[in-house]
Amino acid sequence: MARVFSGIQPTGEVHLGNLLGAIRNWIVDQHEADSVYCVVDLHAITQQQDPAELRNSTLRLTQMLMAIGLDPDVCTLFVQSHVHEHTGLSWLLECTTSFGELRRMTQFKDKSDKTDFVSAGLFTYPSLMAADILLYDTNRVPVGDDQRQHLELTRDVAVRFNARYGNTFVVPEAAIPRAGARVMDLQTPTNKMSKSSLSPQGTINLLDDLKSVEKKIMRAMTDTDGDVRYDVASKPGVSNLLSILGACTDRTPEDAAEGYAQYGALKKDTAAAVVETLRPIQARFAELSNDPGETARLLAIGATKAREVAGPVLARAREHMGFLTS
Ligand code: TRP
Repeated sequence: MARVFSGIQPTGEVHLGNLLGAIRNWIVDQHEADSVYCVVDLHAITQQQDPAELRNSTLRLTQMLMAIGLDPDVCTLFVQSHVHEHTGLSWLLECTTSFGELRRMTQFKDKSDKTDFVSAGLFTYPSLMAADILLYDTNRVPVGDDQRQHLELTRDVAVRFNARYGNTFVVPEAAIPRAGARVMDLQTPTNKMSKSSLSPQGTINLLDDLKSVEKKIMRAMTDTDGDVRYDVASKPGVSNLLSILGACTDRTPEDAAEGYAQYGALKKDTAAAVVETLRPIQARFAELSNDPGETARLLAIGATKAREVAGPVLARAREHMGFLTS
């Protein structure tokens, strides 16, 4: 079975756009490949962070991924810093990556322009990302456009390492993530739903109180022509509701539009569909957060599974590079 690696940054809250746009697909994907999901807390410290917040967002993201349906018995789900092989390999790869290559990374340019303190880690971030991927003999990495350049660099570094030191790494391919629903802000439906939305009314976080989820959808921005049809350009608000309703009921937005003569009924059904999607996720999340021992146990299983693959790959890289075995 092909191995697929995904890295996920521990960010504050997961919202409906993340769920319907991407994460929900992973539930299916985990059965179709040998899937490795890594919560990349080491990448999170490349920019200044608050320790309590890092701890909290790492824990909550892993619990959320489990609550949504990533099954630690089916896939490998773990926290990057629990598997020391990541930092172990990244140094070897930093020494196989050139300064010039790192300097050309557009994400580095963007991020370093926006901060006063530019850490060395922010600069070498792509070498750590390459380590994440290469440690698992990964065949495919589903990445969005913003990460393509990092993946190209990973491939170049793998090829260079293999040429210098003998065949060591599988050279991974970029894969286009399966398309999910494009969920827009409920108040400004021409913008994507995002955690930095202008209005909290525009974003539904997966842990929002279900009453307030309903209210946010009932108050979503629509238009005045009263016609229910999927037409993103001229009816962004209504189309967004149809995308959401469709995604929650496994239909296309066009099919979801069938039979509605007015916005009230559409909003009511969309609210109900979202509430029914979120209810079991919230229940499972509550169980996990009330039982930290269970989360720790599942993460320990994930880290053990990860190490079983990463350990021998790091040992191989060290040996090929010429380190004495210890
Ligand atoms: N850099 C990725 C992002 O910002 C996260 C990431 C870290 C990643 N390691 C990875 C993604 C390995 C894919 C593979 O989204």
